[in-house]
Amino acid sequence: MSSIILVTGATGTVGSATVAALSSQGAKVRAGVHSLIKGENLKRLPGVELVEIDFARPASLAVAFTGVSTALLITPFTQDQVAMAQQLIDAAQAAGVRHVVRLSASGAEAEPGIQLGQWHRQAEEYIKTKELAYTLLRPTSFMQNFVHQQAGSIKEQNAFYLPMGNGRVSYIDARNIGEVAAEILLRPEGHDGKAYTLTGPQALSGSEVARIFSQVTGRTIAYQDVPEEAVRTAMQQQGLPDWMTESLLELHAISRAGYASGLTSDVQAVLGREPYTFQQFAETYKDCF
Ligand SMILES: NC(=O)c1ccc[n+]([C@@H]2O[C@H](COP(=O)([O-])OP(=O)(O)OC[C@H]3O[C@@H](n4cnc5c(N)ncnc54)[C@H](OP(=O)(O)O)[C@@H]3O)[C@@H](O)[C@H]2O)c1
Repeated sequence: MSSIILVTGATGTVGSATVAALSSQGAKVRAGVHSLIKGENLKRLPGVELVEIDFARPASLAVAFTGVSTALLITPFTQDQVAMAQQLIDAAQAAGVRHVVRLSASGAEAEPGIQLGQWHRQAEEYIKTKELAYTLLRPTSFMQNFVHQQAGSIKEQNAFYLPMGNGRVSYIDARNIGEVAAEILLRPEGHDGKAYTLTGPQALSGSEVARIFSQVTGRTIAYQDVPEEAVRTAMQQQGLPDWMTESLLELHAISRAGYASGLTSDVQAVLGREPYTFQQFAETYKDCF
């Protein structure tokens, strides 16, 4: 049997972390990228080849899954993500893939749940209707969101703004998600039909996150709670579509209410070591802030 491991969404936060973790263990990795140019950095890693995946071109999926033994299925944050996930699952089954790992989200199992959770649940349910061995990864909010969304204001104003009150979040470092995915893709035995809720080691409030950034950067970084309406207006002014604005506000509301603060030992159970702390994350990414 072939030992090619496919990672879709490979240039994204979790996809790139997974490709790096697989490559470091000597795996033969096929990185499924939306754009070959964006994938150039991945191609430099040992054992990594690129394949283009475009959901608008189903033939590209058939090519990407050819000869693949295990695959990580990641879909982007779009309104048609369920249809995209179904395309990936169908392509994996048609190609005879042995085991798929699906990147879902914490709370996907909660009914009725928020919009994003519902979309992930639909994708999870679809996998379960198939003759496919699978593992579901349900991470909490990524620490790397601070790099992508808050680094600008932290750098320029020594502050970050979120509508989260004093709600705590059990942020996870996306590198740990990649390591968990890599472990299961390389050694799927024992993970079939399992769902792992992946959290960091602590649940932190905005003020606690600000304190860590202050320690690491040597500057005083402030957390500013902002009203939901102000965030909605800002997102609308940035041109975000309504579905995206409302989905993101739902996520923040969950955090504000304290529902994103649960901790699990699933990272430790799969990897045999503790997940990274927020402090470790902030030190690694210090230059971004
Ligand atoms: N962020 C969080 O805190 C969080 C928490 C829990 C779960 N999640 C889940 O994580 C998933 C996203 O993972 P991520 O943050 O690692 O992804 P990401 O960084 O947003 O990257 C998305 C990837 O999908 C690719 N892509 C976008 N449109 C595409 C298309 N039409 N055809 C093919 N590829 C396409 C992108 O490539 P290009 O950039 O080249 O377009 C990129 O490689 C979502 O399902 C989200 O719900 C996120």
